[in-house]
Amino acid sequence: MKIRTSSSSSSSSSPALNISYLLLIYCCCWTYWGNGEYCEVNLCHNGGTCVTGVGDEPFFCICAEGFAGDTCNATENGPCSPSPCKNDGECEVISNSRRGDVFNGYVCRCSPGFEGVHCQISCISLLGMEGGGIVESQISASSVDFGILGLQRWGPELARLNNQGMVNAWSSASHDKNPWIEVDLQKKMRLTGIITQGASRMGMAEFIKAFKVASSFDGKVYAVHRAEGQRKDKVFVGNTDNDSTKTNLFDPPIVAQYIRIIPVVCRKACTLRMELIGCELNVFSNAIGCVDPLGMKSRLISDSQLSATSAFRTWGIDAFTWLPHYARLDKQGKTNAWSAASNNRTEWLQLDLEKPKRITGIITQGAKDFGVVQFVSAFKIAYSDDGQTWTVVKEQISRTDKVNKYLQP
Ligand SMILES: *[C@@H]1O[C@H](CO)[C@@H](O)[C@H](O)[C@H]1NC(C)=O
Ligand SMILES: *[C@@H]1O[C@H](CO)[C@@H](O)[C@H](O)[C@H]1NC(C)=O
Ligand SMILES: *[C@@H]1O[C@H](CO)[C@@H](O)[C@H](O)[C@H]1NC(C)=O
Repeated sequence: MKIRTSSSSSSSSSPALNISYLLLIYCCCWTYWGNGEYCEVNLCHNGGTCVTGVGDEPFFCICAEGFAGDTCNATENGPCSPSPCKNDGECEVISNSRRGDVFNGYVCRCSPGFEGVHCQISCISLLGMEGGGIVESQISASSVDFGILGLQRWGPELARLNNQGMVNAWSSASHDKNPWIEVDLQKKMRLTGIITQGASRMGMAEFIKAFKVASSFDGKVYAVHRAEGQRKDKVFVGNTDNDSTKTNLFDPPIVAQYIRIIPVVCRKACTLRMELIGCELNVFSNAIGCVDPLGMKSRLISDSQLSATSAFRTWGIDAFTWLPHYARLDKQGKTNAWSAASNNRTEWLQLDLEKPKRITGIITQGAKDFGVVQFVSAFKIAYSDDGQTWTVVKEQISRTDKVNKYLQP
């Protein structure tokens, strides 16, 4: 079995894995020349190449560009059809020209409140204005209205969604020209939205019709929220009556410890009850943007971290041994790749990462053995924390072993 060609390919092993060993099990290899087993009758359509003895199937089609499916009879729909993005995330195809920057061939643009490679992580918890998880001392405001004869205190600590009673909301003082109310979340959190509500005072509805949102890490320097790519502050549409709730989502989400609601237009008075929507920061994994190479090409991964079941020797000559530590992307030289001694499924290449690392994808590449293009056409990935017990990466839905195919010679 040999991995030799000058082409390259990438495939993803999502969800990301925290592993300390990485093992490629070559389930099927195909040499472009030589001992490849072609089908007696070509069962593949549209110029596909038919190979036998690959995987559990009686034959295996290597489809021409633009075709897909077991017999290459389907037109390639691209990675966004069907969309792998969850929760209404938008799938966007990325061109393959910048190999290595992305592994999936697509990116998911998530709806507010969702994150992750496939928008699978939600951040839509109620943070505790209504429930009381946010305590009085965390809520402050620019001013407080004292109502009739100064006897009613419409304090910021009352600004809780669905708060009841005669005095049941925050209201800024009528002379306050730059009112705001602020919540100190006591640590950096991810905020994805806000629910606002007005109140009524002596039979009159009071509410905030429009507002801005500012945030801060330290309570000193504030940034007013803007939509992605916009140069103007985002003005949110607020309430229209005393009681109904209005939900606004932050796109992009806000990461901050302090969040400030800044009324822009108020009806009667700037009176507010509210809830914040968001989540802890640490529910987000480094998988987002985790695309830095681990160091096969750069040699950050040292030769001794790589091992394999065997190494092929061209013409049986030691000097032409295709050693495990030659398995480096874009390696040059006469023997510039790892190649197993036998072309069968018992062979593997192993990488010891030395400590747990998050792996989000793999880029593979073949090589030429004295001019002959050869490569691994399909492989499985297994991982382990101890080098003893191995888990094979599975398909997300069928839970069968994921076979990564590399079809481009
Ligand atoms: C492709 O061929 C298979 C059988 O060879 C058939 O089951 C399938 O429906 C075909 N798909 C398309 C898109 O024509
Ligand atoms: C406040 O809202 C309640 C419920 O929607 C409604 O019945 C009531 O008339 C409203 N009061 C004012 C002053 O708008
Ligand atoms: C794989 O190849 C080796 C060497 O040719 C051979 O000894 C072994 O039996 C083969 N294993 C399988 C499962 O074909």
